Amino acid sequence: MSIEGADFIMRNWSGPVSGRSLKIGSDEHKTLFCRMLLETHNPYKPAVIEWPALTPDARQRVMSLPIWDIAVQTEGRASIRVKTFAALVADPLLRSALDMDAGEEARHKVVLSKLVQAYGIQLEPEPDYAIPRDPAEQIGVAIDPPTLIELCLAENDRRMAGYDGRLLRPAAVPMLARFALRLFRAPIVQNFAVKARNN
Ligand SMILES: [Fe+2]
Repeated sequence: MSIEGADFIMRNWSGPVSGRSLKIGSDEHKTLFCRMLLETHNPYKPAVIEWPALTPDARQRVMSLPIWDIAVQTEGRASIRVKTFAALVADPLLRSALDMDAGEEARHKVVLSKLVQAYGIQLEPEPDYAIPRDPAEQIGVAIDPPTLIELCLAENDRRMAGYDGRLLRPAAVPMLARFALRLFRAPIVQNFAVKARNN
């Protein structure tokens, strides 16, 4: 199977249609949700990822991001939390979905460790978490907050569109993001931003 074909299967999934509407919180809902998680899981191996060669200044920018220690540690902590919770769950299907997720968090940690290794980034036990004066310079991309939020919302819609329409989607964060976007786009806030830029 082509990489594109495998990628499509991981991002588009629907369960069997029973003819009746799905009751949220029912056993049927749980089965559909767990099966979606398990059947769309991508079995890639972090060790075979070919990290692209970077120009010296791009590599320098990647190396200077003050996130690598906390990112690696966060994935490690997430994995042990999910694994611990999974061990308490009696339902075999739900437990296997949770075990898969714990393994997924551990894999994120391996991916980050490989990335760090590939670009010669030294992990410090005590990183400097100084607040950057201009985070957008530091990553080399000029993007204003409303454009970033729009991009995230569009990507969220695109990513969620492929899955069974009966399953629930994350609601709170997209709703807050849309609210924040409306605030950013409000004339009073726009005028304030223009004045701040001109001063
Ligand atoms: Fe993760």
